[in-house]
Amino acid sequence: MCGIVGYIGEKEANDILISGLEKLEYRGYDSAGVAVISNSAININKKKGRVEIVKSAAKLSGTIGISHTRWSTHGAPSDRNAHPFTDQSGQFAVVHNGIIENYLELKEELRNEGVQFSSDTDSEVIVHLVAKNYQGNLQEAVLKTIKRLQGAYAFCVIKADSPEIIGARNGSPLVIGLGKKENFFASDVSAIIEHTREVIYLNDFQIARITKELVEVRNFHGEEQPLDVREVNWTLEKAQKQGYKHFMLKEIFEQPDVIRETLKVPIHLSKNFSRIIVVACGTASYASLVGKYLIEEIAKIPVIYEIASEFRYKENLLNQHDLVVVISQSGETADTLAAVRLAKEKGAKTVGIVNVVDSTIAREVDERIYTRAGPEIGVASTKAFISQLIIMYKLAFHLAGKEFNSGEIEPKIKEVLSKHEEIKRLAQKYYLYQNFLYIGRNRNFPLALEGALKLKEISYIHAEAYPAGELKHGPLALVSEEMPTLAICPKDSVYAKTFSNIEEIKAREGKVITIATEGDQDIRKVSNDVIYIPKVEEIFYPLLCTIPLQLFAYYIAELKGHDPDHPRSLAKSVTVE
Ligand code: M6R
Repeated sequence: MCGIVGYIGEKEANDILISGLEKLEYRGYDSAGVAVISNSAININKKKGRVEIVKSAAKLSGTIGISHTRWSTHGAPSDRNAHPFTDQSGQFAVVHNGIIENYLELKEELRNEGVQFSSDTDSEVIVHLVAKNYQGNLQEAVLKTIKRLQGAYAFCVIKADSPEIIGARNGSPLVIGLGKKENFFASDVSAIIEHTREVIYLNDFQIARITKELVEVRNFHGEEQPLDVREVNWTLEKAQKQGYKHFMLKEIFEQPDVIRETLKVPIHLSKNFSRIIVVACGTASYASLVGKYLIEEIAKIPVIYEIASEFRYKENLLNQHDLVVVISQSGETADTLAAVRLAKEKGAKTVGIVNVVDSTIAREVDERIYTRAGPEIGVASTKAFISQLIIMYKLAFHLAGKEFNSGEIEPKIKEVLSKHEEIKRLAQKYYLYQNFLYIGRNRNFPLALEGALKLKEISYIHAEAYPAGELKHGPLALVSEEMPTLAICPKDSVYAKTFSNIEEIKAREGKVITIATEGDQDIRKVSNDVIYIPKVEEIFYPLLCTIPLQLFAYYIAELKGHDPDHPRSLAKSVTVE
């Protein structure tokens, strides 16, 4: 979380830094700030709220600077907790992404030495330590500082009279962009892609120094490292709204293309393992749960489903015969990354299903399978989810040694998307309810989880998801006319069972919106509203059901006046624990 940008070159830094931040707002939007060097002084603009507030302030002049958009961890969203922070002399400034876990101890130590803090953040200790450690060489001061820091970080430091920026990485992403007579730092390529396609992804325990002419990378012992320059192969256009009101809506409608592209991804995985463990967070974890159902059903291989944030704190009994499959859109999620590292430590083979090329998880796993969703900007994951599902189908068929006949998927998905107006009308009918239940069975149960998550995160309506058969073990007590249920009930092998569960809800005056298969007239008798999806081979229903769930959540959020691209308290890339 948090996004950082650094620029050094011959152009005015202010606009470059702010436009970079705008691309990184998906990482947090509690406050924004810019620091620019001018005449050997550091000038700062920073404010609580979105980047546009800093953008509308008077421009800072100068050709070297750093900037930050914040997702709050330590200290409330406020002007005083906005980055960049300076030391007491105003000579040094820092922007930081991550958490300095031992900041209290460091703060106490610095306070005892007379340092006065201007914020409640953990990050501010970095700049005071750099100032304290400075003896004529900024890079040396940062290296010394790093030795005192515990936790995860990517940060950039500038000094008022030095034509250089120092960046360091341990646990949070940081990329260097290479230009002509200019160089950049950023949390993510999207912030700098309009200026350069040549990048170096810093690894953990690396520090880099950039000037307008040169880039050098060292490890935390100060030893110079070879420069691993890579070319970015996507365009900025893909990361723009292209006429849609929100990125989320655009990304929902991009799904037929995403499916087509992701279906082309080759899978070459050896079948040399005894069990599969799927690990991920949030939406990606629901894709992995669908994967569990599919792999067990199609390939008859047992799959253990794990939530990444729990994974490393429990006894996992992993060994070298295990295959650990992690899924991550960003490839930077701290919990998922930690799961990869743990699995590797225990000798298991790791495979990453990742969207962002060359992201940390993609680089650290033994084998990577890239989804081809393109840049996903909306905080609520949509097209990445469908691409993850496609890979799970491909993987299940590959492991089963069977052919994956996927021809009907893309046209049927388009058909479901064409029902958007109908789904919008349903949203109009239901958007004022404060609680929802989502139910599904078998491979559609994870879809209930995903539908409920979408609704929660962007519309702030409480939604709970249950396997339909679990209702009678407790949640049925919640059902009343005040709490509608969204039931996923296509014509599949558990149709009759889910149908009975819907009847149980109706018998208790619960309102039911059902996602059902076209032609199913019986379902109308027990549902208040029905969203029909086309008939497909039953294993493909999770793909089709995804679309109405996403659209329903989107339109409800819109009707409630929320910005679905920037849900409160969330960030797209969760790089802290
Ligand atoms: O980048 P990742 O796929 O690893 O992210 C995992 C979750 O943080 C993410 O899916 C989150 O749940 C989304 N906001 C859901 O829409």
